[in-house]
This record gives sequence, C-alpha cells and structure tokens, in this order.
Amino acid sequence: MKRTTYAGLVDEKYVGQKVQLAGWVQKRRNFGELVFIDLRDREGIVQLTFSNKEAEALEVAQKARNEYVIAVEGEVVARAEGQENNKIKSGRVEVKVTKAEILAESKTPVFDIENDVKAGEELKLQYRYLDLRRPIMQENLKVRSKIMSSAYRFMEDHDFINIETPYLAKSTPEGARDYLVPSRIYPGSFYALPQSPQLFKQLLMGAGFDRYFQIARCFRDEDLRGDRQPEFTQLDLETSFLSAPEIQELVGHWVQHIMKDVKNYDLKLEDIDRLTWQESMDRFGTDKPDLRIPFEIKDLSEVVKDSDFGVFANAVKDGGVVKALAVPGAADNYSRKDIDKLGQYIERFGAKGLAWMKVSDEGLTGPIAKFFDDAKAEEVMEAAGAKVGDLLLFGAGRADVVAASLDYLRRQTAKDNDLIDQETPWRFAWIVDWPLFEYSEDFDRWIAAHHPFTMPNEEDLHYLDEGEDPHKAHAQSYDLVLNGYELGSGSIRIHRTDIQEKMLRALDFTPEQAQEAFGFLLEGMEYGFPPMGGIALGLDRLAMLLAGQDNIREVIAFPKNSKATEPMTEAPTPVDPKQLGELGLEADVEDSAE
Ligand code: AMO
Ligand code: AMP
Repeated sequence: MKRTTYAGLVDEKYVGQKVQLAGWVQKRRNFGELVFIDLRDREGIVQLTFSNKEAEALEVAQKARNEYVIAVEGEVVARAEGQENNKIKSGRVEVKVTKAEILAESKTPVFDIENDVKAGEELKLQYRYLDLRRPIMQENLKVRSKIMSSAYRFMEDHDFINIETPYLAKSTPEGARDYLVPSRIYPGSFYALPQSPQLFKQLLMGAGFDRYFQIARCFRDEDLRGDRQPEFTQLDLETSFLSAPEIQELVGHWVQHIMKDVKNYDLKLEDIDRLTWQESMDRFGTDKPDLRIPFEIKDLSEVVKDSDFGVFANAVKDGGVVKALAVPGAADNYSRKDIDKLGQYIERFGAKGLAWMKVSDEGLTGPIAKFFDDAKAEEVMEAAGAKVGDLLLFGAGRADVVAASLDYLRRQTAKDNDLIDQETPWRFAWIVDWPLFEYSEDFDRWIAAHHPFTMPNEEDLHYLDEGEDPHKAHAQSYDLVLNGYELGSGSIRIHRTDIQEKMLRALDFTPEQAQEAFGFLLEGMEYGFPPMGGIALGLDRLAMLLAGQDNIREVIAFPKNSKATEPMTEAPTPVDPKQLGELGLEADVEDSAE
C-alpha cells in the first residue's frame, strides 16, 4: 500500500474516494463485529471503521493496540447525521476500511499521546519521541519551521549573504561561561563553542560582505530559565554602513514579514513602540516590558518623603525610592495572606517587605493607611493614578530592588486578575539608548551592558578618555522586546582600534590581556573595517511566543532540562578514561557538580 494523503487531511472533499493512509492508532473501540480506530499522523486524526464485511481487515483491527503503526485502504464516507465530531477537521467523514496491515507493534506507551498529558516533564523528555507525537508538539515544531523558512526568504530577498562561521572557535571573554572542546592534537588547549558569531560577523564586514546573515546555533554555559537553553538558535545578521535606526527599520520589516507568514497578522511598523532604556526602567522596572499590561509603576518618592510612615520616609532619606503600582480593580481579589505571599516572593530581589493599601469609597484602607491623612491620601492616589477598587502595592528602598520587585508584581497581578490586554496580542518595542556598562553583582565589577564591541554614543566617546567616568557613557545599542521577552539584541559596533582599545581599558583589560583575547580583531581593524552594526534575534523565543507557549523547551525537539541534562540520551555522560587520556585530560569526578 502506498499512502495517498495524510489522515488528518481527509475531509468532505474526499467523500466517495478511495484513500490509502498510514499512521498511529490513537484509540480503538472494539464492538466485536465493528471496530473504530482513530488513526493519527502529523496532520491530525481520522476515524476508521472496520466491519465483518471485510473480515481480514477486521481481524487486523482487533489485533491493533494504541500506538501500533498501521496502513489501511478504504473509502471515505460521510458520517451519519448526529455522529459528526466538530472538534477535528475530518469530523464529518470516516474511512470504511477494506484492507489493513500492521507495520509495527508498540509497547503500551508510558503516557497517553494527547495534548493535556498528565506525565511529568522528566518522563516526557526521557521519551521525547512519544512526547513529540502529541499534536501540540507537532504544531509547535511546525511553527518553528515556518519561522525559519520565512526568515530565510526575507534575508535572501534583502540581499543578505548566508555565511557559516565556526563552531570550534577561540574562547573569548564575552559574557557567559564557554563550553570548551579539548584539542587532541594540542593537549591542554581548547576550542570554545561560540556564544554567538559576534566576532566572526564583524570580521566578515571587514572582509567586505556588507550584509551577512546566518541561522546560528549558540552555546552558553549559564543558569537556565524558562526562556534560556544552553544551546539555542539565533537569526544573526550584520550590515555595513547602516545607522542604528536603519537597522531597526530593516528588522521591523523582518518581524512584519514573519508575523504575516506565520500568524497571518498585520503588524504595522508604527505599532512597534520605542522607549529609551531609562524610560523603560522608570515606567516598568525592567528593560523588557510587557506593554500589554495597562498599568505602570509610579514614583511616589516626592509625595511620601516626609510621610509619618517610617518605611517610606527612611527609604528616601537613605537615597532610595518609593514607587507604587495601582492594580486596577484588584482590591477585593487579594486577602492579607495573598499579599504576604507576593511579599515573600519578592524577598529574592532583596525586598524588605511589601507595603499595600486598598482604595475604597472612603479613601485608603489597610494597616498603613493611618499614616496618611486625607490630604496626603489624595496626593498618594493622584500620584499613583489609583481609583476606587484598586490595590496599591509599594516598593521602598534601593532603586534596583524596587524595580525588580514592582516589575514582578506588575506581571504577576496582571496575570492573576486577567488584566493583560488581548486587543493587541503582539506588543513589540525597541528599547534604545542603553548604558554602555552595567555593574555585575556576580562578577563584582563593571561589565559591558551589551558586549565589548558596542559603539558608545558619539557625544559620549569622551567618557572613555583617561580621567573621565566611562560608566556615564550610553551606547548605540537596541533590544527588540515582544510581550515582555527580549527577542533580540544588537548595536552599532566599534570599527576603530583606538576606540576599541579604550573600551577594553574601561573594562579593566590590560593592553596585554586585550591583545591575547582580541588581538586578531584589533589588528583587523587596522586594515580598514567599515562602520557596521547588526542584531541577533532569538528564534527559540520567537517560536515559543508565536506557538503560544511559555517555555522554549516546547519548541525545541530535543532540549536540555532545567539541570542542563538531556534525559533521553542522558547527556552529559562520563567518557572512557582512554578517550580522556588521548586528550591529555583526567576527570576529577569528586569535583563534579550535583
Ligand atoms: P545576545 O546575547 O543578547 O546578543 O543574544 C541575542 C538573542 O538571543 C537570544 N538568547 C537566548 N535564547 C535562548 N537561550 C539562551 N540562553 C539565550 N541567550 C540569548 C535572545 C537574545 O535577545 N552577538 C549579540 C548580538 C549582536 O550584537 O548582534 C548577541 O548574541 O533572544
Ligand atoms: P513594618 O513597619 O516593618 O512592620 O512594615 C509595615 C509594612 O511595610 C509591611 O506591610 C511591610 O511589608 C512593609 N514594608 C517594610 N519594608 C518595606 C520596603 N522596603 N518596601 C515596601 N514595603 C515595606
């Protein structure tokens, strides 16, 4: 038998026709003389009927069990009235089977192949090939595939040249920890898997390609989260001679193209918001704001700095801030216990508590309301933009702690109260005018906010001179944000050795360290590198969002779990000591992390 169409595509058009299908047994109902089988393939499900008129086929159906692979031939007929199933595309028809064959048997699957499967994440990853049989997973990977091909088409139509760059590369101090690959030929020396093609694409601009792109796998040994994997995929691009706004416009057209192709959604370029980094931090407490949430953080420091409530007054006196969120109409949705829970959560950001009030007809209520007389209460409500029925949440203290806390509270309370605006389902924004450096608590020093090759703003270049404070400089970098996720990040690059050397000095590289790490780039720049800029867009994150998922594992065929292992193959695994020996290595297993 040769398949003539997909099971999931059989519909009214096929009525009266003979079809041959192949797929998996989703479900079987056995009434002896009459057997129904739901046959599943990547396009969906169709109902097969077997009767004693076709005894051989019926016998096959009786042997078949869930997840057996079968092939059938039969005639498509309309279902009897009242028997239709409107939930599936093929629900108005069924296939009367005349011939059937079992192509493969299956053990009873370890979990049911259905969208709302009850199995835990670990088990699903261990049997990923079964997990991937679920219709939703097939859909997710199709969305991903569409994004990839749509991205490709756009880049080629816009004269970008697709160039591959090495996976076995040099370890350079860029940001995250590297995955290292030992060299057999040079024991003690290592390649690093690229954290991104950043340096190569700059060199390609130096080489005159003008417009480069690549769908590139990147590798970073960092702590994992729902939107982070140790290996992930970027649409990486770089251009020569374009300004930051020109690159943003080009990328705007790119997302417009993808949204049309993949979601049939008409994104208007003027609907992509534009915020400075500072504005984003002030209004949303984050550099990746979810603009679908219709309430913002308000600064109340001025209003409450002489308040009788010590927590607020002291926060301002100690150089901190007091900021608030008025969650619309949420006053009655939170008990004290609920608010305590929110307060406990934000302790991880360093918050010392969560002050709150509710707005009722009589004014402010709650344990701290007594500190605010009528006039002050009026001022607080005005400054917070609060109305009757709102829940007011306050953060007081260090600006960064307050920002992180209120960012979380804004997202969480919006979700809890169904306040995410569904009118505009896709809210894109450019975040621009970033600081050039940021302080890293992890490293306990200043690091490049984007990466060390980011061009400072023209007017800020002097901050890199000896004797000035480089941390005041802002950068020609830009992030593309979608619905609260950082989708892409890019910048205009430094293309001159003198500026690059100053930048590395500001990052505390000695001239020798700079040479050792980036000597090839610094030297290259002495041979006429053009002004250049680009961006990398995280395709896993885009696929996750367009597939309506909230974890990027759902759009990666074989992802790592949250502990960076792959439960099916069990990678990473110990290797034969002989293999290590060839590499001049020895494993200190005692030291290995758990
Ligand atoms: P950046 O490091 O910001 O920039 O990465 C660009 C985009 O890649 C995605 N991304 C990730 N996705 C999944 N898992 C991860 N661990 C992960 N890390 C990053 C994000 C992010 O916005 N070379 C620069 C780009 C440039 O300047 O052109 C770079 O890699 O969506
Ligand atoms: P206290 O005076 O410490 O009992 O706190 C009174 C209220 O203020 C409680 O609801 C605390 O959770 C809250 N609170 C304490 N410190 C802070 C802070 N730094 N920011 C916001 N709220 C706080």
